[in-house]
Amino acid sequence: MRIAFISDIHGNFTALKAVRADIEKQHIDQVICLGDTVTLGPQPREVLDTLRELKSINIFGNHEAALLEPEKAAEYEITDYLIPDLYWGRERLAQEDFDFLHSFQPTHELVFPNGVQLLAFHGSPRSTTELILATTPPETLDEAFKGHQASVLIGGHSHIQMHRRYGSRLFLNSGSVGNAFTHAYSPGKAPSLLPWAEYAILDQSGDLFSVDLRRVYFDTAALLEIVKKSDLPGAAWWLRQYQEHT
Ligand SMILES: [Fe+2]
Repeated sequence: MRIAFISDIHGNFTALKAVRADIEKQHIDQVICLGDTVTLGPQPREVLDTLRELKSINIFGNHEAALLEPEKAAEYEITDYLIPDLYWGRERLAQEDFDFLHSFQPTHELVFPNGVQLLAFHGSPRSTTELILATTPPETLDEAFKGHQASVLIGGHSHIQMHRRYGSRLFLNSGSVGNAFTHAYSPGKAPSLLPWAEYAILDQSGDLFSVDLRRVYFDTAALLEIVKKSDLPGAAWWLRQYQEHT
């Protein structure tokens, strides 16, 4: 069984198209999207159309929560300067898109044919905003995953790919399709974007699991042209990205 995990697309349809083209060559049985689909970037509707076409299982991120309840954006850790982008994205969605976003799940569990359990989430099962990194202490993970027995854990949110041992468990982060970060976010130290899209493939064959943390280059110039032609409030931020890499 082969599962592709995509996360943190953030309205970057240019990056998602590149990932989709790669996924279509990888004999994937199921796509699971780990949240943060439509906010910040210039093409939210195209992203949702693609998820519908991929028939992905979709998990709710903090940006879906903020988009659906923009008056509570601060609770979902959306910084003030991103609020205009949140409303810009809302204005571009149709009722069917809002209905689709409401159908996203907080977590998703599955059992592989060999009996191994997997748990997928955005930040952690207890919070869409919990930032888990390779350096997060095991004691914090013990709290975050209390009551969960799955031995394969996978999330998004950090925009940083991760392949980590946690006791006897495997802990993965698929990275970000549309906003791959140079380093983890922390207040006052905003990351810039890397010129590629990230996603992960988990392959289960008998008792063998293998993980492929993939990096797919996409046309950043084409993305910036789309941003320039849009009236996206955060356009200037996008236009500052990729400078060191182009
Ligand atoms: Fe995100």
